[in-house]
Amino acid sequence: MPSTLELNDGSAIPALGFGLYKVSLEETERVVTAGLDAGYRLIDGAEFYGNEREVGAAIAQAADRGIARDELTLTSKFWGDPEQSPAAARTAFEATERNLCTNVDVYMIHWPRPARGQFVDVWRELIALQREGRVRSIGVSNFTQAHIQRLIDETGVVPAINQVESHPWLPQHELRAFHSVNGIVTQAWSPLGRARILDDPTIKKIAEAHKISPAQAIIRWHLQLGGALIPKSTHPHRLAQNLDIDGFALSDDDMARIAALETGERTGTHPDDRQ
Ligand code: A2P
Repeated sequence: MPSTLELNDGSAIPALGFGLYKVSLEETERVVTAGLDAGYRLIDGAEFYGNEREVGAAIAQAADRGIARDELTLTSKFWGDPEQSPAAARTAFEATERNLCTNVDVYMIHWPRPARGQFVDVWRELIALQREGRVRSIGVSNFTQAHIQRLIDETGVVPAINQVESHPWLPQHELRAFHSVNGIVTQAWSPLGRARILDDPTIKKIAEAHKISPAQAIIRWHLQLGGALIPKSTHPHRLAQNLDIDGFALSDDDMARIAALETGERTGTHPDDRQ
């Protein structure tokens, strides 16, 4: 079982889940089923991924195999395009619940879209959903420190999670430190750098020394930083391998060698650039 991280609202999430970005409609049900059978209990979804009905179908089937809904943490995100507004956020939240055929545990704003000037008001709507008891935890995704500071200053409610791109090339140390001071869990998307970092010679050497795979080495690095992550794989054996990270630990020297890989390179969009 993956370890859990406490959230600032008193609940907890598995540190390690799996993501469904770019998993095709045809594959989603099979991938979710494989993930749940491997032992994952956090599924990271989003309105934008377009596959929430298939996620819902896999969860309903899992219940028949004895994997109870209340063991699971389901996350989703408000896309905010074409309309980033409080009303659109509520409509999207309700559509996600209908598609999943169950409730959402963690709901996030997918992108701040700062030029639209709406993200604080959208955050107020998520706060309202939480106060109405419709969602357990609320968070954000792709928010910078400045965006989060505005949420805190203007609403007094600190997001439970900020899900951001992070991997050894983009460790996000400053943002992680800000999160840690404010009690926010850092949840990494593209934690393997979309597989591009798996070929890095330093990662390969560390993996060989521990007799693990490069993916396992990077996943262990995330966990030892104290963060959460949602690696993606469509292959059952890789989903299982990515969860098998308890039998070894990276040394301080391994962590320092991985820290030296930082280049700032992103595989996705910068938070200020998506409007
Ligand atoms: P696949 O879906 O074919 O298994 P990220 O989570 O950083 O976005 O990375 C996802 C990419 O990493 C996908 O291309 C996925 O490929 C690949 N991947 C995930 N786990 C592993 C693994 N254990 N070994 C090799 N590649 C992996």
